[in-house]
Amino acid sequence: MSNKNYNRFTLTAALPYANGPVHIGHLAGVYVPADIYARFLRQQGKDVAFICGSDEHGVAIELRARKEGVTPQQVVDKYHNQIKNSFEQFGISFDIYSRTSSETHHKTASDYFKKLYENGKFEEHSSEQFYDQKEKQFLADRYIKGTCPTCSFPEAYGDQCESCGSTLSPAELINPKSMLSGESPIMKETKHWYFPLNEYEDWLRQWILEDHKEWKSNVAGQCKSWLDNGLRPRPMTRDLDWGIPVPVEGAEGKVLYVWFDAPIGYISATKDWAADKGKNWEDYWKKEDTRLVHFIGKDNIVFHCVIFPALLKADGDYILPDNVPANEFLNLESNKISTSRNWAVWLHEYLEEFPEKQDVLRYVLTANAPETKDNDFTWKDFQSRNNSELVAIFGNFVNRAVVLTHKYFDGKIPVRGALDGRDQEVIDEIKTFRDKVESSLEQFRFREALNHLMDLARVGNKYLADTEPWKLIKTDETRVATIMNLALQIAGSLTILSEPFLPFTSEKLRGMLNQENTKWSDAGSIDLLNEGQKIDEPVLLFEKIEDKVVEEQVQKLMDTKKANEAEASASKVTPAKEEMTFDDFMKMDLRVGEIKTAEKVEKSNKLLKFTVDTGLDQRTIVSGIAKHFTPEEMIGKKVTVLANLAPRKIMGIESQGMLLFAENADGSLKAVTPNSEADNGATIS
Ligand code: MF3
Ligand code: ZN
Repeated sequence: MSNKNYNRFTLTAALPYANGPVHIGHLAGVYVPADIYARFLRQQGKDVAFICGSDEHGVAIELRARKEGVTPQQVVDKYHNQIKNSFEQFGISFDIYSRTSSETHHKTASDYFKKLYENGKFEEHSSEQFYDQKEKQFLADRYIKGTCPTCSFPEAYGDQCESCGSTLSPAELINPKSMLSGESPIMKETKHWYFPLNEYEDWLRQWILEDHKEWKSNVAGQCKSWLDNGLRPRPMTRDLDWGIPVPVEGAEGKVLYVWFDAPIGYISATKDWAADKGKNWEDYWKKEDTRLVHFIGKDNIVFHCVIFPALLKADGDYILPDNVPANEFLNLESNKISTSRNWAVWLHEYLEEFPEKQDVLRYVLTANAPETKDNDFTWKDFQSRNNSELVAIFGNFVNRAVVLTHKYFDGKIPVRGALDGRDQEVIDEIKTFRDKVESSLEQFRFREALNHLMDLARVGNKYLADTEPWKLIKTDETRVATIMNLALQIAGSLTILSEPFLPFTSEKLRGMLNQENTKWSDAGSIDLLNEGQKIDEPVLLFEKIEDKVVEEQVQKLMDTKKANEAEASASKVTPAKEEMTFDDFMKMDLRVGEIKTAEKVEKSNKLLKFTVDTGLDQRTIVSGIAKHFTPEEMIGKKVTVLANLAPRKIMGIESQGMLLFAENADGSLKAVTPNSEADNGATIS
């Protein structure tokens, strides 16, 4: 249904987890499109509640707290404020940025659960789950580590192996260990409250696939595949400490599942906002003439299109989302953005490194938004879109219009005279842009909408290039007055139509033009700006970004990559060798030796020659370790010797045995040194 049929809009943007800062992927996927849409509706004079906040529960936050040795509340306090601040600085115009640790939210989520419980909407089931006897705690999947059954990676999590990527359940892990105590967990029975999603399957199928055929294909596609796989009851409670207590008898020590409480966070936030503004929150959640739209990334689709709507339906009093325009993912320089690997452009860092350039990033992320498929952010593209689009097209047009008006007309909007054919053409053309941008935005096609906006600037540039006022000024000032008047009117339309996309630029432009008419419906008019009115001195809207600046950013990423690779190779473990028999082992004569002399082997940069006291004899052993140790540091060291290795000639020297070293995955060697109390010749077994 079109926006015209609605009197109110509840727009939600996914609540980011407050366990780390936000990056460009968040902005591109969710918050910039949501903000564009909210601003667009507000400019049309619509009643909008644009809702967001921090998602402060869940295992990820508890884990982070344990890792940092602080409380979960300290973790969320820190990141909530940082995230909120980043969004504010990027002009993301939430009506409220709330948080799920708030009192209102705890009560709202708790009451929501209680109502469903009392109306018999849950099923109770007991099952066996991993339990840490030492910590006296049931273990979330993330709290269990063990060996991956697929790839033998020894550090796989209970829900996923980060080495081979396979999805796991904790029971599949080989030799599972609790990450809390390090002990082997036991299986213990626990009770949970399940929401029978299966009972909503037919209804969901109809509602999504038949009644909402207008949803984006990436969204509908994911929903269909969930539905085709069949829905199962899902537990809405967890055995965790951090979260909202389950308000039911017999549920002591249990909390609400984070994906149960988080979407209800939208409702709680609306309550706080409405109370503050003297509005009724229920209008925004329970009235059919309200349009509810969820902005999210693709990993949130099932929760917003299947689970939350079913929960709303189960309550029975709520409206349902009319659309869920989820985006795909944004990659960074061809690699998946990753918080743990620090492969990201963090918003707080960007703000420091590119002060006053929020709109540039908003622009690039919209122009390149992952609307229908994953997309790649590159610094090169960032630079070229800035230089050849924002500077060369938008900035250039506005600058010429303002500068020439100052030059020829003393900064006053000149009087329009008779119009010629070219003028009429441009007037007809600029009228079409409002509809174009509007229609794209109504279909959540933000890239297309932005293109239309830039086309309007292009029209302005072309008009000036065609009419060449700088040539006419000597001969026909009246004509130039008409041209500059129209050029400024076009700039005025740019103020209006750019506001959702480039709010900071729009505001500067509005100020420069002293523009009063800024309603959406004013766009395209040639009477936006009044003749004779003063405009301000030109201010720079965009500036060129030099190669050096983006090269530095690329270098920063390359440094990150190097650090990651070093870390990865340092933690990589060489796969185990084949099994051998006890007899095989007993064949080896391993014993303690002591290095008596050490020297470099001539003409070799790898070899050292030692005299080793093996207890049996003093013998010569040649070893390829010169890159790792100096002869001097080896003298006097106790070493492990394989004494019965057949003698070999190495560079003309007979080596009578082998010294044992430990080799790290990065190739570095460490001596395997017996305790100094072991006598030379002591056997090792
Ligand atoms: N915190 C979740 C994420 O970052 C999103 C929660 S959206 C909500 O993936 F609906 F649950 F609030
Ligand atoms: Zn694996």
